[in-house]
Amino acid sequence: MPLIPTADLVRDASSAGTAVAAFNVITLEHVEAVVQGADDAAAPVVIQISENAVKFRTGLLLPLARAAAAVAQTAGVGVALHLDHVTDPDLLHQAADAGFSSAMFDAGAAAYPDNLARTGEAVEWAHANGLWLEAELGYVGGKPDAPASAHAAGVRTDPAEARQFVRDTGVDALAVAVGSSHAMTTRTAALDHELIGELAAAVPVPLVLHGSSGVPDEELARAVDAGMRKINVGTALNVAYTRSVRQALDSDTAMVDPRKYLAGARSAMADEVSRLLRTIGTAALKPAAQGRSAS
Ligand code: G3H
Ligand code: ZN
Repeated sequence: MPLIPTADLVRDASSAGTAVAAFNVITLEHVEAVVQGADDAAAPVVIQISENAVKFRTGLLLPLARAAAAVAQTAGVGVALHLDHVTDPDLLHQAADAGFSSAMFDAGAAAYPDNLARTGEAVEWAHANGLWLEAELGYVGGKPDAPASAHAAGVRTDPAEARQFVRDTGVDALAVAVGSSHAMTTRTAALDHELIGELAAAVPVPLVLHGSSGVPDEELARAVDAGMRKINVGTALNVAYTRSVRQALDSDTAMVDPRKYLAGARSAMADEVSRLLRTIGTAALKPAAQGRSAS
């Protein structure tokens, strides 16, 4: 089916008290795996292309974006296309004509006034061009000396500051620092669920969890229960991909046809996508989650 706006998927997830999962893609196999996994789980999904992935793709946004849109056409579930962790306004400005319905503008490493100004400009452009815009607030009071990046150890988003930031920038969704870290290859992060609840109560827009690969299933379910509405996953797919390729090449040192080892990698990623979609999509529906809500 044609691409669905990210805003619609997040809105539907919010109405259901759950979250939409968003997966970062680097190669065509990632794209195919995300769509396969979403179909297997019968759940809608967001495909994300990050600024770093664009750099890897020789600086070109369109080849992977067009491929993602084409593969999405084959899906039996809704698929949205999101431009992730954009720091360069020139790249943001390419999004609207490349099939994206949303973007995340990332000035989270900047000091608050700079983040506010740059995010405000990005929101203005995005809304004038029909894009839903997510931004990040990760510089939290108490660490005045270091321009901190969201999701660094110990950094947390302050609810009062978050409320002000959302009001002053007009962002559509807010990525917050609540204990997760990007690029973790072990699932050992512990989230601050009380803070998630406070942030959800403080801001009128959906909350986004970044660095979700390092978050155990139970923590993810609790995060959704506490108010996370978009769950970003990247590294977990790369772990599945690389593990599969490594096993295939180790088991047959004469193997040279990429189709032989990439088929397994794609399938391993699809399994991870469907597993995570089931975990996230049913988080708010499980009896355990209901028990947590009531407590
Ligand atoms: O924006 C993308 C996500 O935050 C991915 O983080 O690679 O640690 O799962 P991750
Ligand atoms: Zn992220």
